[in-house]
Amino acid sequence: MRVDVRPVQKLRGAEPLDVTAPLAQMLSALAGDTVDLTHVRLVCDWIQYKSNFRDVVDIRPVLAHPAASGEDAGPAMIEIAVDLRRSEDVDVEAATHAALARLRSGRLRRGIYLEPWTAGRTSCIWRFNALYWQALGHWEAATGREYERALPGGATDARNLTAVHELIHALFRVWDELDARNALPDELYVVELGVGNGGQARTWLDEFVTLDRAHGRDYYRRLHYILCDYSPHVLARAEAAVAGHAAHTSAMVVDATRPLSALGFLRHKAFLVYVSNVYDNLPSDEIARIGGRVHQVEVRAWIADDAAARLAAEVSSSPDAVPGLVDKLLRLGPELLSEAMPAQFPSVGDAVGFWRECWGAVRLEERYVPLEGLDAYEIAPGLSGEHLRPQLDADGDVRLHVNNGAVASFAGTLPLLHPFGRLQCLDLFVESAEQYHSGFHGPGKYDGSVVNWVNGPLLRQIGRRHAVDVTFTPFRHGARSSITTLTASLHD
Ligand SMILES: C[S@@+](CC[C@H](N)C(=O)[O-])C[C@H]1O[C@@H](n2cnc3c(N)ncnc32)[C@H](O)[C@@H]1O
Repeated sequence: MRVDVRPVQKLRGAEPLDVTAPLAQMLSALAGDTVDLTHVRLVCDWIQYKSNFRDVVDIRPVLAHPAASGEDAGPAMIEIAVDLRRSEDVDVEAATHAALARLRSGRLRRGIYLEPWTAGRTSCIWRFNALYWQALGHWEAATGREYERALPGGATDARNLTAVHELIHALFRVWDELDARNALPDELYVVELGVGNGGQARTWLDEFVTLDRAHGRDYYRRLHYILCDYSPHVLARAEAAVAGHAAHTSAMVVDATRPLSALGFLRHKAFLVYVSNVYDNLPSDEIARIGGRVHQVEVRAWIADDAAARLAAEVSSSPDAVPGLVDKLLRLGPELLSEAMPAQFPSVGDAVGFWRECWGAVRLEERYVPLEGLDAYEIAPGLSGEHLRPQLDADGDVRLHVNNGAVASFAGTLPLLHPFGRLQCLDLFVESAEQYHSGFHGPGKYDGSVVNWVNGPLLRQIGRRHAVDVTFTPFRHGARSSITTLTASLHD
């Protein structure tokens, strides 16, 4: 049996974490069970997100073969996972017993499923995530607080003035040099992907005006700042925030995972593509090496029976109807849902209440399915799973994020860059594969959205393939120590 304790930093210090109590309870449950102990892994995590997709004790089958259809032929191994942060709240021994009994009965969960087994990136949690940004105003009206308050520290780091000044001065240096060689184009393009409320764009533009005046080259006259987001609702809000710079801005509906499709006209023209707190919000698979074999983590969203019964009662329906109602909500949004089903959702507020309660209740069941070959797995269009091999081969068994959406966005953005341009991202990056052995990196819930840390070594590896230099620097300017700046540039 293998025991994996990940939050190692919490084992020391003034108040060290007690791992022995939950472990003893799990071992006691296993001792009283008939499961083959040579095929059991115990995983102890610390899930820092108060709102997340896990139970305190979860069981994950590790399949022997890719499941051809429906339920599989039985696991080759099982992983029992405990969230140490919440382990004091439950009887871990009883929960482990119960989970093992359910595994034997062939039904891991006592709840209703919202989807069949699927890869992480295609789970319905991403439809919830998209709905959050499409209907943000309704969500915020219900919670009474702006989305930025849900970010750690209660505000985006993207508005930090020192960091903004550094970035603008770096642009001035490049432009001055190009100008000296008569190589500076007339139009100076800056692109932002995933603009949120436009707060960063407004700060950036306001500061640009001030610094440009002091610099004395009148770059503002030539500046064109393009605000991009996949949510028209968010985009309209951002546009209003930068109304004072209307002559120098435009707003475009763009899917950040396919930037070239809408921004192809900017190929080799953008001096800066700026992205903050977006990569961690794009769909992601997870891949795990277990016993030397590579597996894909498959997920299945579910809602516990008691929560489903509560939700059903609120709309005078049966728990079996909940998955259908959730699908309608995700397709129509709260406004149209209320129009389409006035008996169940008399007001938009009722539909939003249903949405928020569903989201709070959604959990992910997981299983590990062997991958036939990394080369057959596609991270993003044209990028094979072989890019993951250095990380998977480096250091024994590991479970890591693929961040398919972030990789696609990154690879699709590089062609937009001017030869002296740069891509700058502020985000939660895992910077070395080792971090996957010592912490939890998502998915978690930020309000109505999903967060996953981003696999930095993978982006670095893909950058190398494009002859792009990728560096990571801790974000020095804010209180949040976890935020890192990724800079990708085509030149030194
Ligand atoms: C957490 S907010 C960050 C906003 C802002 N950049 C900041 O730092 O505060 C994430 C933003 O990314 C946008 N977004 C998420 N997925 C996207 C996608 N696939 N394409 C474009 N925008 C996306 C959301 O609509 C939202 O505006």
